[in-house]
This record gives sequence, structure tokens and C-alpha cells, in this order.
Amino acid sequence: MAKLERIGVSLDTALLKKFDKLIKDQGYQNRSEAIRDLIRDKLSVEKTKSPNSPAIAAVCLVYDHHKSELMKKLTDLQHSHLLETICSTHIHLDKHDCMELIVLKGKAGQIDKMGQTLVSLKGVKLGKINMITTS
Ligand code: NI
Repeated sequence: MAKLERIGVSLDTALLKKFDKLIKDQGYQNRSEAIRDLIRDKLSVEKTKSPNSPAIAAVCLVYDHHKSELMKKLTDLQHSHLLETICSTHIHLDKHDCMELIVLKGKAGQIDKMGQTLVSLKGVKLGKINMITTS
């Protein structure tokens, strides 16, 4: 286990109350674990801004499956980025809409660009990229 250091943090009472409510709602057992996760998340977000950082991204897309041209483009893009495309999962949401979850792995800059290309394809109703660094 890594060496632990104790730190003191001063917060105004109102802010601390909001923080305590938030972490209780999220299921944290104590402030320390919540603060550690916040720090890790902030560090990871900062690293994703470095184009060469190793990263992994979950790209979530919602679209109407009747748009056959869009489905072809989605498939073509994944085939042309084989090294970055780890896997994909298709979920039939209702009579019209589908959700595609595509997992990309590679350098943050490259997979972000690929994710943006996927999200901005014509016919995508909702798209979101969730990237984290892997080192
Ligand atoms: Ni479907």
C-alpha cells in the first residue's frame, strides 16, 4: 500500500454541507475516499488534454436504425480505425432507436478525434465521449 499523508483543508460550512450531501447521495462512506476520487478524476481529465497520453474512451451514440447510410458509415469508420477500435455493442432501444457503444483505445488526441467524428455523423441524435487516461 502506498504511503499515506494527512492534509488539512479549510472549507466554508455551506460548501462542506453541499459536499457531504453529494458524497452521501453517491454512496461514499467518508470524505477521504470522495476527495481521493475527485483528485484522481481531475488528474485524469488534465492528462486527456495531452494528445499523446494513453487513453481509453467509451463513445455512446443514439440513432435511428432506419438511417442505413449512417450504420454503414459507423461500420466503415470502425474498420478503418482497427487499432483504436477495441469493441462495440449494439442495443436496440425501441422500435426506431438504437444505441451503439464503441470503445476506443490509443493516444488521447487520436481517439478523441475519432470519437468526435463518430458523434458528429449526420443522423446521430445523441452522442457522448467519456475518456479516461490509462496510466
Ligand atoms: Ni438496433
